[in-house]
Amino acid sequence: MSKILVTGGCGYIGSHTLVDLIDNGFEVVAADSLINASDGILEGVKAITGKTVQNYPVDLCDKAATRSVFEANPDISGVIHFAALKYVGESVEKPLLYFRNNLDSLLNVLECMVEFGVKNIIFSSSCSVYGNATELPVTESTPFQTAESPYARTKQMGEQILYDVCFHEKGINAVILRYFNPGGAHESTLIGEAPTAATNLVPVITETAIGKRKSMTVFGNDYPTRDGSCVRDYIHVMDLANAHTKAIQYLLANQQESNCEIFNLGIGEGVTVLEAIYAFEAVSGLQLNYEIGPRRAGDVVAIYANNNLATSRLGWMAQRNISDIMRTAWAWEQKRR
Ligand code: NAD
Ligand code: WQD
Repeated sequence: MSKILVTGGCGYIGSHTLVDLIDNGFEVVAADSLINASDGILEGVKAITGKTVQNYPVDLCDKAATRSVFEANPDISGVIHFAALKYVGESVEKPLLYFRNNLDSLLNVLECMVEFGVKNIIFSSSCSVYGNATELPVTESTPFQTAESPYARTKQMGEQILYDVCFHEKGINAVILRYFNPGGAHESTLIGEAPTAATNLVPVITETAIGKRKSMTVFGNDYPTRDGSCVRDYIHVMDLANAHTKAIQYLLANQQESNCEIFNLGIGEGVTVLEAIYAFEAVSGLQLNYEIGPRRAGDVVAIYANNNLATSRLGWMAQRNISDIMRTAWAWEQKRR
């Protein structure tokens, strides 16, 4: 049984990935400082899987603390590196915090991997690396445009660091996963997304429906899209989680074509903001209180993935759609109240 270190394992995507890894026979340990999460989520992971996951509550920007996790787990065969700060707006207000946190933590993890002979890493990247993409759907070789936020730039830089480390530092293999717009929760509703201050569309919708917000705003209906609202590629968190399991299996089986590979993770179809709202209304039977407002600064008009590479190389395909995202996100919102 291979043991995987999951940094950021108490976060949204990390916790769902712990479940999928355990379901597929992996042993897991987490390293999460809990800066944006609670280790209470591991109770949910235990209730689903029957397994107690140990979390090391270390700040991965602290090299000695990071080292202590590797020292205590000399048998890990790979790292899935989720730990990062992820709020686009906060990154605009505090760029130095974002560069320090997201890059130092990555460098410390990589240095420890070299020191302790751990060869395999999966890195959480984002469709935000594409910026205002020049072609749709975007493929992994669609060139980066200017990052729209310091957060997005930390992901561009993280990818470049990995690329250089893989090519010049012997023995490190990386899979970079570019997530599109994650949403939804585990079917059990024992775990789900618990954002500190929701700004992403799916939790904004469920928080509005449950009354945590009086109403919500659709940011613009005058874009050149089929209904005037922006187009995104919403991917269910359990489909995303399963891509990490497939990617780690791929690395452990030495199936890579090169030692730094990149995969888009989206369903491959665009959904407008209004279509997402209608999907929510259909699964919940509620009428959402929303208004049309001005465009939000920094939003791209449309982005969705070409996911052919993840299908052909990793054997991964999304099994769920926007309705599944809304249904599980809504069930989770009602449960966590
Ligand atoms: P999240 O905030 O729920 O999880 C990240 C976890 O990392 C948190 O639990 C936080 O406490 C931890 N963390 C942050 N800095 C740390 C540090 N220095 N040391 C130790 N732990 C630290 O976010 P998420 O949605 O689960 O995202 C996971 C990863 O996926 C992130 O790298 C994020 O940038 C990336 N990503 C997320 C999305 C999204 O929309 N959720 C989209 C694309 C990419
Ligand atoms: C989706 C659509 C909004 C809220 C961000 C990051 C990206 C990735 C995913 C981390 C947009 C519209 C939203 C609301 C709205 N995260 N919207 N009203 O901006 O596509 O991507 O999260 O890597 O990097 O940039 O996601 O969920 O904020 O917005 O109309 O109250 O919903 O304008 O069109 P986004 P989002």
